[in-house]
Amino acid sequence: MDADSRDVRARGNGTADGSSTQRYTAHLERSQRVWDRWSDWYSMSERDFEPIRERAIDRLDLQAGDRVLDIGCGPGVNFEHIRSQIGSDGELVAVDYSPAMVANARDRIDRHGWENVAVHQADATTVDFDEPFDAAVATLSLGVMPDAHRTVENSRRLLVPGGRLAVVDVRPTPSGPLRLLNPLIWRFFRWYANWNPANDVPGSLRYTFEECDLIETAVGGTAYTMLCRRAGSDFEADHSGPEPTDQ
Ligand SMILES: C[S@@+](CC[C@H](N)C(=O)[O-])C[C@H]1O[C@@H](n2cnc3c(N)ncnc32)[C@H](O)[C@@H]1O
Repeated sequence: MDADSRDVRARGNGTADGSSTQRYTAHLERSQRVWDRWSDWYSMSERDFEPIRERAIDRLDLQAGDRVLDIGCGPGVNFEHIRSQIGSDGELVAVDYSPAMVANARDRIDRHGWENVAVHQADATTVDFDEPFDAAVATLSLGVMPDAHRTVENSRRLLVPGGRLAVVDVRPTPSGPLRLLNPLIWRFFRWYANWNPANDVPGSLRYTFEECDLIETAVGGTAYTMLCRRAGSDFEADHSGPEPTDQ
């Protein structure tokens, strides 16, 4: 099946008030500039994070024929590994907001001649599709989004009941002496990657999904992998816990 023929839409931007809409838009626009700029210089990050990204994808337990969403796909670093598991009967759909990243991802698809892989330039927070996904992956992308909590909610909504989401991301060093360097490191990441300190990705995942586990940490706990699962059709999330804060 030709994945490009699928209908992709944007849902309304449901931010609460004018100032948060402005913050959201400013972050998204800066994201586009930052990631367009890095799109041709991505090979180091691609290599360094490959093992942890591939282990996260392996934990999705993908089957031949699955339909998979790659959220903030960059230049398509996850495509080959996902494609090797879903085969030519599966379908991989990817979204990224940066046009230059999307162009690089499309070059990769063309080079490999993958007919069942498609990439769309879209905001992952509001993107919508006609058909749900069996599984989704977001590697190093949620933490740089303008509102990761809403992106996580949208990702859950796009999954079939029982669908899984694997997330690899980075966070401030949680413990040990390296913690003292957090302000410096995260200032750098805000400039370099448009990292958004208002996001609490693990908190949003735990709040939104019925099942969620931290399955791996690396680099002194700074890099982590979480695996989440949307419950079956009759089960709705118990939102009795505290809502993640948005400072
Ligand atoms: C650090 S790169 C990660 C790329 C790839 N997933 C990886 O593992 O290397 C972050 C990507 O998220 C994308 N991104 C940021 N905000 C986005 C949004 N709101 N919607 C879709 N993509 C977004 C950026 O354009 C960038 O390509």
